[in-house]
Amino acid sequence: MSDLFFIRQKYLTYLSSLNHKIVPSAPLVPENDPTTLFSSSGMQSMIPYFFGEAHPEGKRVADSQKCFRADDIEEVGDNRHTTFFEMLGNWSFGDYFKKEQITFIFNFLIKELKIDPNKIYVSCFSGNKDLGIDRDDVAANVWQELFSSVGVSMKIVANPEEGLQDGRIFFYGEKKNWWSRSGIPANMPIGELGGPDSEVFYDFGEQTSDLAKKIHETEGPCHINCDCGRFLEIGNSVFMQYQKTNAGFEPLAQANIDFGGGLERILAAYQNQPDVFKTAAFWPLIEKIQSFTNLSYEDDANKKYFRIIADHMKAAVMLMSDGVFPSSKEQGYVLRRLLRRALRQAAYLEIKQETLVELVPVVIDIYTDFYPKLKDQEEKISQILQAEQLKFSRSLSKGLKEFERMASQQNELTAYLAFKLYESFGFPLELSLEEAQVKGLKIEKNIKELYLEQKQAHSNDSKSVLKNKFKSGLADQEEMSVKYHSVTHLLHAALRQVLGESVEQRGSNITAERLRFDFSYPKALTIEEKEQITNLINGWIKADFQVSKQTMPKSEALKSGAIALFVDKYPDIVNIYSIGKNPNGDKRGEDFISRELCSGPHVEHTGLIGEIVLAKEKAVADGIRRIYALQKSS
Ligand code: ALA
Repeated sequence: MSDLFFIRQKYLTYLSSLNHKIVPSAPLVPENDPTTLFSSSGMQSMIPYFFGEAHPEGKRVADSQKCFRADDIEEVGDNRHTTFFEMLGNWSFGDYFKKEQITFIFNFLIKELKIDPNKIYVSCFSGNKDLGIDRDDVAANVWQELFSSVGVSMKIVANPEEGLQDGRIFFYGEKKNWWSRSGIPANMPIGELGGPDSEVFYDFGEQTSDLAKKIHETEGPCHINCDCGRFLEIGNSVFMQYQKTNAGFEPLAQANIDFGGGLERILAAYQNQPDVFKTAAFWPLIEKIQSFTNLSYEDDANKKYFRIIADHMKAAVMLMSDGVFPSSKEQGYVLRRLLRRALRQAAYLEIKQETLVELVPVVIDIYTDFYPKLKDQEEKISQILQAEQLKFSRSLSKGLKEFERMASQQNELTAYLAFKLYESFGFPLELSLEEAQVKGLKIEKNIKELYLEQKQAHSNDSKSVLKNKFKSGLADQEEMSVKYHSVTHLLHAALRQVLGESVEQRGSNITAERLRFDFSYPKALTIEEKEQITNLINGWIKADFQVSKQTMPKSEALKSGAIALFVDKYPDIVNIYSIGKNPNGDKRGEDFISRELCSGPHVEHTGLIGEIVLAKEKAVADGIRRIYALQKSS
């Protein structure tokens, strides 16, 4: 058993002993959530339950959630940042609160994993008058009591920026100890929920590297949120209590707990190993990469490249296993970026690009004990990777040609040109600089800084694109996306009626403007088929069918004819949504026209939807079609 498996299992068993129901991880691409491209924290699939909707498994739930953070792509290279990780999570939906939560996490770390309590530090929220929220002395006092029970005194420090000061509990403001999906209170859209939090840190001891010294010289004395590498955040308990409204922050009808702890980081703390790439979550990948080259991971000059390849290849495999394909848009674009970055780093380690495909089975080996389905996807993932690699090597040679052309016309490499080469051909700055040297070109002064400015400006543009996803406010968006979510079920049912029962949903994505639906089918739809499908759906909408939700054991749900996208993904107790004249009846076609395992939400009856039209339909992969549907404009 790997230590990774051990920690994950230990956590789930422990939470289960505290009456939590263990649920499977949601996919990396959230279903029916127009506000985000990826699952980047465990709570994303839990939002409705914080607002009071009943979770089918009850008020205490725990899981290990696969997460991907695209914002961290450029951060990868140090000993802790990764884009893909698993988040151990537990939730209370209006059940237990601060005292129990802090006790659970304390017992898990100190009693279950037997981590030395002298290595643990915590932070709590310092309060905010404008928000009308007090300093979190309640949480601080619980921490103090628990640690004093194991003989560790926890001094409280209110000014952490002035250093550790022999303290162990530190109060920080909203930049560090407030959590919402969109960060600090001011950045939260109306309707979003959030709350103060309390973070746990592990102490790897004073750092003496040149980088650490430089950080302390420029940024002041070490504190638990310092970047020098001494402290690693390993868990965060969010007291999910507030909703942002036009009138300020209002308490939710119930006080919730949202705990998340990075599995790989907890493992690093458990092994007292500050480098997560040396733990079971990464080491087999680093070893394999070493076998491709004569260069060593232990050489500081190479570490960064090893880490980027290991991280990006792992994330890419996990994204592909959840149905993401390389493309020029959204999730597919992020995947392409990861693969290209990994492929480019190969050159710095004197590895042939074609070799990286051998990392696919290594990633799968790390995770197959917990995600057994991965094994079946090995071949498909390797094929996609190889195709992408070929494409990239072609665009790389185009990039090199472009470089030649440029070099023959002018004698200077400017930041602007370097950025254009990067943007159009995935040509990194390092490569442009190398080429310029070989060709004897001049290099623009301060090229690195200027190039970074270009990149920054560009990534700000893409951030604002993401921000626009919030533009009409969550409330409006939610209303539209709930409608589109119900249309997804109608579309699925209509496709199966017209094209046959072999049609299976392969993915869906909803924005406030349209829905996108991927399904298995070997050929393009004819005009007549599309017409039949549209007419069926609009007929059902006009008939104003009831949408009914029932909760039952999974086996019973499947017996009653409910369709499930990924059967294993659902917990033992599930919700099913049925649509029809007599939705809870048992005759498909007569009583109900659609029945699916689903976590909702949906409209109450189809008449609320309004006429829809089908838009473009195309192939996205072998045997997979993609179709768009949107509300007919009135
Ligand atoms: N949702 C919290 C986080 O991601 C636990 O840190």
